[in-house]
Amino acid sequence: MNLPPYKTKMVEPIGLVSRAERIKKLKRAGYNLFFLNSEDVYIDLLTDSGTGAMSENQWAAMMRGDESYAGSSSFRNLQNAVKSILGFPYIIPTHQGRGAEQVFNSVFVKNGMVVPGNAHFDTTRAHIENRGGLPIDCTVSEAYRADFSSPFKGNVDLAKLEKTLKKYKSRVAYILLTVTCNSVGGQPESIKNIKAVSRLAKKYKIGLFFDIARFAENAYFIKAREKKYKNQNIRKIVREMMSYADGALMSAKKDAIVNMGGFIALKNKETYSALAPSAILMEGFLHYGGMSGRDMEALAQGLWEGTDEHYLKHRISQVEYLGENLSKIGIPILKPVGGHAVYIDAGKTLPHIPWNKFPGQALAIAAYIEGGVRSVEIGSVMEGRDQKTHENKKARMELLRLAVPRRVYSQEHLDYVISIFEKIFKIKNRIRGVKFTYEAPMLRHFSSRFTPTP
Ligand SMILES: Cc1ncc(COP(=O)(O)O)c(C=O)c1O
Repeated sequence: MNLPPYKTKMVEPIGLVSRAERIKKLKRAGYNLFFLNSEDVYIDLLTDSGTGAMSENQWAAMMRGDESYAGSSSFRNLQNAVKSILGFPYIIPTHQGRGAEQVFNSVFVKNGMVVPGNAHFDTTRAHIENRGGLPIDCTVSEAYRADFSSPFKGNVDLAKLEKTLKKYKSRVAYILLTVTCNSVGGQPESIKNIKAVSRLAKKYKIGLFFDIARFAENAYFIKAREKKYKNQNIRKIVREMMSYADGALMSAKKDAIVNMGGFIALKNKETYSALAPSAILMEGFLHYGGMSGRDMEALAQGLWEGTDEHYLKHRISQVEYLGENLSKIGIPILKPVGGHAVYIDAGKTLPHIPWNKFPGQALAIAAYIEGGVRSVEIGSVMEGRDQKTHENKKARMELLRLAVPRRVYSQEHLDYVISIFEKIFKIKNRIRGVKFTYEAPMLRHFSSRFTPTP
């Protein structure tokens, strides 16, 4: 049995508005689920980012928040937690992950440079492109075969990476590994692959950095799937993972289980000094950078809790439970189930909807109408347009992501979600595609508006 290693101390009421109301509200939201009011959503699987439930110890730590502008004890507590858990001595707090991305890329990416890695997250990609850079996806090809199950689909194709490093030489800004890799389904990277990437980075004298939004989940998968690490402590695995990187960018809203926050953590002082002026300019002074003292306290505590093995075991199995049960009722999902979310293959579920009528968005709409469940398209809407031709880019997979917030929902909630998809599966032929009525110029999935196609 998969028992939660916590009990509920505080509750937030939720309720299901009527189907007629849901249809009305969705229309008002331009069929974009980001524009729904949260009280109109019953089960919110839009994201696992900033939506986790903080613990009593995190709330208690917040009371100790030192709100001094500089030199606060809260900053030092965060610095100590990052050093103990990740092993990086230098830290720049930021307001969230994309704050870290903005600071980092503004310094290291110049026009015409490239950033190879496994599939970059959308905000990461946007920040690199915003500096005139080009993210190059070197993920193993099996990552894009939804029904092909293999343990480390977040791995880098080493031959492709080396070819890229040879081709672009001094135009490579840095290598970025996203662990776990959100854009291919929350899939992990093995230590073996990380080590090999690090060897290549050293050979070509290029910096290696990690996007560690979900590093603890990645470490759990390493323990579960990489033989050598079977009996190893999670925190030891984390330290080994990080030892191969020159630094890391973190959206703390995921594995540090806080509602807001992020940081850049670095191995050496030179990189820290190179980033510091931009960090002050964009985020705030180096001892708070977009976070209050209390937020840094909660984050420091969250890093310990997020790397607790009992917690991780429950967390990963909860997501697996959702995925396996959707699969059992015939819903095609991306396999194996990722760390933070189940990705439904919307292209396969709704084969009558072509990619440019966005089956993922259509399925998200159906899940809300049928059950008040909020999810997000990860497909051609999110993919955006080609920078040069301005044509719609076809995503490699049309997915619908059901992200599970940390320590929030029970198994009964997940059973309800499964029942809604069972219902949708029966009426799937009636689901229609969508087209834009307003298309946002960048990161368009967040703020575009749609209408169902005839
Ligand atoms: C892998 C990854 N990197 C970066 C980010 C951006 O972080 P934030 O939303 O805190 O700006 C996210 C957010 O979901 C993410 O999943």
